[in-house]
Amino acid sequence: MRYGTFDTAAREYRIEKMDVPASWTNYLGTEDMASVVSHHGGGYTWYKSPEYHRVTRFRANGVPMDSPGHYVYLRDASDGDFWSVSWQPVGRPLDQAEYLCRHGLSYTAYECKYKGVHATQTLFIPRGDAVQLWDVSLTNTSDAEKTLDVFGYIEFSFHHIQMDSQNFQMSLYATGSRYRNHAVEYELHYEENSYQYFTASFEPDSYDCVRDAFIGAYHTERNPAAVEKGRCSGSEMLCYNQCGALHKRITLKPGETRRVLFILGQGNADEAARARARYAAPGAVDAARAELAAFWDKRLSKMVVNTPSAGMNESLNLWNLYQSEINVLFSRFASFIEVGGRTGLGYRDTAQDAMCIPHSEPDGCRWRIEQLLQGLTTMGYGLHLFEPRWFDENEQQQSFKSPTVVPKPDANSIVHGLDHVCADDALWLIGAICAYLKETGDMPFLWREIGYANGGRGTVYEHMTKILEFSAEQVGAHGICKGLRADWNDCLNLGGGESAMVSLLHLWALDQFIELAEIAGMTDHAAYFAGMAQEVRAVCQRELWDGKWFIRGITRNGKKIGTQQDVEGRVHMESSTWAVISGAATREQALAAMDSVDEYLYTPYGLMLNAPSFTKPDDDLGFIGRVYPGVKENGAVFSHPNPWAWVAETMLGRGARAMKFYDALLPYNQNDQIEVRYSEPYSYCQFIMGRDHPAHGRANHPWMTGTAGWAYYAATQYILGIRPGYKALTIDPCIPAEWDGFTVTRQWRGATYEIKVENPSHVEKGVAMIYLDGAAVEGVPDMADGAVHQVRVIMG
Ligand code: NOJ
Repeated sequence: MRYGTFDTAAREYRIEKMDVPASWTNYLGTEDMASVVSHHGGGYTWYKSPEYHRVTRFRANGVPMDSPGHYVYLRDASDGDFWSVSWQPVGRPLDQAEYLCRHGLSYTAYECKYKGVHATQTLFIPRGDAVQLWDVSLTNTSDAEKTLDVFGYIEFSFHHIQMDSQNFQMSLYATGSRYRNHAVEYELHYEENSYQYFTASFEPDSYDCVRDAFIGAYHTERNPAAVEKGRCSGSEMLCYNQCGALHKRITLKPGETRRVLFILGQGNADEAARARARYAAPGAVDAARAELAAFWDKRLSKMVVNTPSAGMNESLNLWNLYQSEINVLFSRFASFIEVGGRTGLGYRDTAQDAMCIPHSEPDGCRWRIEQLLQGLTTMGYGLHLFEPRWFDENEQQQSFKSPTVVPKPDANSIVHGLDHVCADDALWLIGAICAYLKETGDMPFLWREIGYANGGRGTVYEHMTKILEFSAEQVGAHGICKGLRADWNDCLNLGGGESAMVSLLHLWALDQFIELAEIAGMTDHAAYFAGMAQEVRAVCQRELWDGKWFIRGITRNGKKIGTQQDVEGRVHMESSTWAVISGAATREQALAAMDSVDEYLYTPYGLMLNAPSFTKPDDDLGFIGRVYPGVKENGAVFSHPNPWAWVAETMLGRGARAMKFYDALLPYNQNDQIEVRYSEPYSYCQFIMGRDHPAHGRANHPWMTGTAGWAYYAATQYILGIRPGYKALTIDPCIPAEWDGFTVTRQWRGATYEIKVENPSHVEKGVAMIYLDGAAVEGVPDMADGAVHQVRVIMG
């Protein structure tokens, strides 16, 4: 069953059938002010931190599933009938009213046609301004005059997620509100100068600052008392729950359209007055929208693909890149699932996010890389979860402590010991730094000095060497890297047991570093780490090959994990794919391992992480056996590692297989199966219930997942094969043989390459000829000339 359509030209997903089985969300904001909103107007807004500085309230994991939100209510003054522009919260019967939701790039628009009124409400957060704008347009499509009561409504939050959801003996008395300058001014009194406001382009006829006055006893957001009555009560209050509710009565002649604006902003009522004036200027709202569109256009135009796969095009040109950007921007901790209760940066997640899209967001990726470098210890491991502001010397401290003020702990308490180290975390940073350098050519970055989390400073290059040394030291009885608290898989907690994945990742990171050290002229170093790589390769060969695939590790008691004899947890994706990607596997081993991945892990919804699922807890393995079979790390289609299999298959030259795996996971391909998928078909999800779960195929946790970056990276760099190097752009596609070819426009280091790949012999891999501006070349050099170049690639 389908609920909506991809509107490629408009760069939107249109939700046409409202009763979607889950909240389908989108993100607003590209800087400090941001929101996550559902297709029904539900969701929440924060300023800088979704943990410490929530602007509007959200009742997470609640009933209904996405409330409250950012609502516009309309009431027909002639008969008192009322509705909301988004289907919920009022929820008019769908056979009486027509609704539409359009999710676009950092904006969401709701539309409703009811009783001769066509209403739209477009939410967005302009660049450079800490305001959320609701651009509301009302058209009278009937042939009679209409008088409408228009209400905008939000519920304010107590800022800190815990204050907002517990300890009300304190929080209920911490906020106050008043009405001035045509704005509701909201204050969190425990903080210094902590105000938000809600105002509008009109002079309100009535207002409410107190939530319970607007909603009314025994009412809900579905039928607020004020809306029923057609007027707010002018409430203001110190203490209890505050809201922003503004009302205006509007009369529309037949055919007439009126545009009104609601503004939710950071600051007091004086700031509200300034914002009103700013957006009252003719064209100001449209200009802000246009600036936001240009912001995204710049990013999306860095790489535009045209392949025979409509789904791949839609994904790579829009949704997949957008999702990857959202991950770099907001890290992982603001969604309807992660509701801001833990923020900061997850080391491995952030490193992988930054690795995958430096072409579209070089500054953002470098910013994340720098933060991670600061979160590295001189011992060579990263702080698994940390707040970058701990290391920000310019961070201003408040002169007092309140529960909503972000604490800055002393340096000694932030550096955790080995017990809490995730063995893979910092290795990803090597990949991220190399990807950034290859994309930008910013080699001086390598020699920039950056602090360590536990004190002292060193160059970026030195940080990298410490990471590699740490993994070389942290090996177990068989010479394989220890699993420590976890490796990439949070639920494999091997401690002193050994993780195949970490050794393979170590090898991958070593090879990348060796290439970089050579380019940087550090030949002695390159030779030293080449020796280390050779040893790691030999150990992996000796200890990990099991005849058909690679084992996943060895427990602290010496039991191998994922052997042919195992009944549960027999085949694991991480070890088999990374054995190929790292180059540890011979070609025969690699082919057999990836055949096993196909045979044991493939489902029509993507590749399961492992199979069969574990059914019994085993503390030597860790938490994994305590997770239901087919769920999350225990045998679900865990999306994030799926692209590793695409990369591995392309390295083996099997384009059809890579595309088969790609297509299985692609959300676009499940647009017609929402009764199975549930979640957004425009977002990769963290995991999909595996074969051992009764709801096999149901997708969970959209948006905030490393799948986004990896899917984009694997599809563009390995399936389409456009890979930046330090000195040249490699073009080495691996595609299904039936493809005639594809085109890509790719910006790289200032020049634009219009690449046409032709596949006359219908091969899956192999490049016979490359022409640059008509001349045969071996590879595409860094032209760095700002010009447009034609590249023709003949496969064969
Ligand atoms: C989600 C976590 O954010 C990520 O760090 C981890 O690698 C995966 N789960 C797998 O456990």
